[in-house]
Amino acid sequence: MVILGIETTCDETSVGIVENGRKVLANVVSTSIQLHKKYGGIVPEVAAREQVKLIVPVIAQACQESKINLDDIDAIAVSHGPGLVGSLLIGVEAAKTLALSLDSPLIAINHLVGHVYANWLKDEGSQLTQRKIISLPQFPIVAMIVSGGHTDLIFMKYHSDYQLLGSTRDDAAGEVFDKVARVLGLPYPGGPEIERIAKLGGEINFPRPMISENNFDFSFAGLKTSVVNFVKDSLFRVRSKEAIAYEFQKAIVDILVTKTLKAAKKYQARSIVVGGGVAANNFLRSQLTAQGSLLKIPIYSPSKTLSVDNGAMIAAAAFYEKNFVDPLKLQANTQLHF
Ligand code: KG4
Ligand code: ZN
Repeated sequence: MVILGIETTCDETSVGIVENGRKVLANVVSTSIQLHKKYGGIVPEVAAREQVKLIVPVIAQACQESKINLDDIDAIAVSHGPGLVGSLLIGVEAAKTLALSLDSPLIAINHLVGHVYANWLKDEGSQLTQRKIISLPQFPIVAMIVSGGHTDLIFMKYHSDYQLLGSTRDDAAGEVFDKVARVLGLPYPGGPEIERIAKLGGEINFPRPMISENNFDFSFAGLKTSVVNFVKDSLFRVRSKEAIAYEFQKAIVDILVTKTLKAAKKYQARSIVVGGGVAANNFLRSQLTAQGSLLKIPIYSPSKTLSVDNGAMIAAAAFYEKNFVDPLKLQANTQLHF
């Protein structure tokens, strides 16, 4: 079964073509990030205007790269939320139009579910553990979704079954990376920049809110404020940006890893999967791998290109979660959650 997946929840315009939920035949990602850099964050109006221009060429390029004609697509999938309303509308309306004109089934996918299923895509870099055989995550699964807008821990007994164990009570992990980067004078998006400059040299002890609490929720606002105050403080003069970035990254990764492993242990998970832009962070990946191996729980994480927003993950999710919808009725839902 060949599914074409459309992803336009934020600034990306992406179309993936995936066979049987695993084999990526094409995954074209076009981002308008350069246009937003000077504003220090995504400008929704600018993102949507770019997506209107890009959606048709990106669909055409995905067909060309995969050598698949639109007529040979078995189903159209689209992430219909959560996200920016203008951006979501472009993808949703394009998917509805394609489904109607090709007389194809239409599958609606929650963007966050897409991040989970990026782990089912065949990808040489998809498994973090040392084993040579690329295997699929085994149920029951604990999934950690960490992106610019979300930080969620999910328990899955089987496909399409999501039990929300905990979420952030304030800022999302990616949002905090972006904010800390901004106060350190680094460009948007901040996560990769923090990772790039982070260097040991610190002994700065940033707080790890809620790390020991007996629940699976997160709170990052206190950590963010602490870093911001530290930077504004005179101490900044004797501490390098690199050391601050390193200690901040260490604190946030410590919280994410501790809570995820605690959940995996409690729910007797056979696999841990991670997804979302922050999952591209190497320090997070290496810490999870190291500590997960002590518990003998394999950790799955998509390659960096499949960690951030892309159409292939939407097509993969659609293969496992066949949430067929009427093209005349589907609507974007900015507030969709697990
Ligand atoms: O999943 P995503 O591409 O878009 C959303 O659905 O939000 O995630 C974007 C977020 C941004 O906050 C970005 O700073 C963060 O992911 N990010 C990273 C890294 N790469 C992207 N955070 C930490 N380390 C990275 N290497
Ligand atoms: Zn995302």
